[in-house]
Amino acid sequence: CGIVGYIGAQEATPIILDGLKRLEYRGYDSAGICTIQDNMADKRRSEGKLFNLEKLLRDTPLAGHIGIGHTRWATHGRPSERNAHPHQAGSIIVVHNGIIENYLELKERLAATGREFKSDTDTEVISHLIDEKLSGGADFEQAVRSALAEVRGAYALCILCEREPDVLIAAKQGSPMVIGLGEGEFFVASDIPAILSHTRKMVFMEDGEMVVFRNGTPTFSTVAGAPLDKQARHIDWSPLMAEKGGYKHFMLKEIFEQPRAVQDTITGRLLEEQGDVRLEEMKLSDAELRGISRICIVACGTSWHSALVGKFLMEEHCRIPVEVDIASEFRYRNPVIDDTTLLLVISQSGETADTLAALREAKARGAKTVAICNVVDSSIAREAHGVLYTHAGPEIGVASTKAFVTQLVALYLFTIRLGRAVGTIDQATGRAMIAALVKVPGLLEKALETNEQVEKIARRYVNARDFLYLGRGMNYPIALEGALKLKEISYIHAEGYPAGEMKHGPIALIDEEMPVVVLVPKNSTYEKVLSNMEEVIARGGRVIAICSAGDDEIAKKAEVTLEVPTDGEELAPILLSVPLQLLAYHVAVLKGTDVDQPRNLAKSVTVE
Ligand code: G6P
Repeated sequence: CGIVGYIGAQEATPIILDGLKRLEYRGYDSAGICTIQDNMADKRRSEGKLFNLEKLLRDTPLAGHIGIGHTRWATHGRPSERNAHPHQAGSIIVVHNGIIENYLELKERLAATGREFKSDTDTEVISHLIDEKLSGGADFEQAVRSALAEVRGAYALCILCEREPDVLIAAKQGSPMVIGLGEGEFFVASDIPAILSHTRKMVFMEDGEMVVFRNGTPTFSTVAGAPLDKQARHIDWSPLMAEKGGYKHFMLKEIFEQPRAVQDTITGRLLEEQGDVRLEEMKLSDAELRGISRICIVACGTSWHSALVGKFLMEEHCRIPVEVDIASEFRYRNPVIDDTTLLLVISQSGETADTLAALREAKARGAKTVAICNVVDSSIAREAHGVLYTHAGPEIGVASTKAFVTQLVALYLFTIRLGRAVGTIDQATGRAMIAALVKVPGLLEKALETNEQVEKIARRYVNARDFLYLGRGMNYPIALEGALKLKEISYIHAEGYPAGEMKHGPIALIDEEMPVVVLVPKNSTYEKVLSNMEEVIARGGRVIAICSAGDDEIAKKAEVTLEVPTDGEELAPILLSVPLQLLAYHVAVLKGTDVDQPRNLAKSVTVE
C-alpha cells in the first residue's frame, strides 16, 4: 500500500495524487483522498487503478490545504470502494498501511457501544477507536495517543480530525514512514519516491514514534508522549533509485524485504498459548479438516518448489498423504480426486492460467480447495473455497523471492492448523513450532548479512557454464529453487538434484569446471549429504557449501563455505534460500543481464 499526506499552503489534492501515482506499482486495488476545507472533511474513493480516482477528481474536485491519500493493496477485506481508504468515523479520518492484530476484539468492543462499521477493514477500527476517545473528551492528539496504546500490530498512519482542521498527525509502528520537510509545508509518505519531487530533506520515523503538524511546525514524540529531537537527512537518490528503495534492482530490494514479509505473514495469526494458528479465511472447520483423506498441492515454477517443501511438513506432522503436481501436468492427467481430497493451489499472482485450470478441474471433481496466494482477490483466490494469503506485498522482480519464502511460511502455518485439527500435533508441539517460527524474521536478517561474501563468491564463479545444486529432504526443493533462480536471471544452465540421486547420473558431469552448490545444514541427513559432497570433491568438482553457522568441518572440505543460522530442521529451507537468491542475483549483475525483467519470462503467465 502507499500513503501520502500533505499540510501547507498549496492545494493538497494534486500533490497527494502525484505522490500516489509514484507508488502505484505497489498496489492498485483501490485508492482514495480526503482533504479538509472550512472545517469539513470531504473524500473521494474509487475501486481499481488510480486512473479511476483521477477521473472522479476531475468530475468532482477536492479543495483544501491539508489532506491524506492512499493506494491500497488489500490485506483485510476485498478491494472495493467501501473498503478503500480513507476511512472515517465521526470526525476522525484515517489512512493506514499494515495489519492490526487485535482488530476483531476491538471491533467487537466498539460495536457493542453502538458504533457502526461501514467496511470490512482493520483500518476503520482505528478511526472508531480514536473517535471514541475524542467523544470521551480528549483532544485530537491525546485521542490518538490513547487509541494507539490499545492497538497491537503494524501500522503507518496518517490521521485528520474535523474538530481540529489545521492539524495532521502521523504515527509509525512496523510499517515504513518518512516525513518530508519543505518551506512551511510538510509531507508524509510510506515511501520516499512519493514526495521526492517536492523535497529532499527527510526525517525517517522509527517504530513507536509519532509526529503532530500544527501551526507550521512538526513536533516529534514517542506514541507514549516523550519528546524527540529528530534529525533530517538529505536524500540524493534519483527518482528511479528511490522507487527501488535505494537498491539497484527490485529483486535485491525484495530479497532484503524478506524479514518484514515473513513478519507480516505471521502477524495476527498466532495463538501462542493454544499452540495453534488462526486461518479463518481458509473456511475449513476442524471437522472438515478431519474429513480430509488426501492432499494434492498444485502449482507452477517457484510456487511448485514451495509445494514440495509443504509435502514434507504435512506428511511429517499430519500423517496425511500429500501429492505434489505441476499444474500443467495435473490438469491433463485424469487425477484421482474425490470429496475427501483437499486441493491446495499455490500461486503468487493468483492468475497463472495452468494453476487456475487445475483448480477448476479439481473443484469440478468435488475436491475442497484452498489457495495460497499473494494477490488478494486474484482469480485463483476468488475461485477457491478458501484462501490463505501470504502478506509479502507486491513483488515486482520477475524472479520470485519474498513471495517464495512467505509461501513456505504459509505452508508451515497450514501444517500447524491441520495437525492441531486432526490431533497429530499436540499443544506442546504446536507451541514449539510457533516459537521456532517467530525467530525466523531475526534469523533472516542474519542470513542477509552474507550478502557481501556472496558477491565475492559470485565473482569467482561467474564464468562457469553450468552449475549443479544439491540438497536432500526438505532442502532438495531449495536446491531446485536455487538452480531456477540462477537460470532465470543469469541465463547460466543450472540443475537442482537430490544429493543422494547424483550418483545415478549427474555425477558424470562433474569436473574441475563445475561449481556444485551443496546445501548441508546440521540436520538428520547431515552425514549423508556430507558424503555426497565428498563424492563431488573426489571428482574435482568445486564445492560451494551452504551450511549451519559454526560448522567448522565443512570449511575444511569445501572450496568456499557460506554459513547461515539454521535453527532447527524445518525452517532451514527458508534461511538457506537467502544465499541462493543472492548468488543468482550477483552472478546476474556481473553478467549484466536485465535482473528484474529477464528475457522471455513473465511475472505472471496467464496463457497456457
Ligand atoms: C512465472 C514466473 C515465476 C512464477 C510462476 C508461477 O513463470 O516467472 O516466477 O513462479 O510464473 O507464478 P505464480 O504467480 O502462479 O506463483
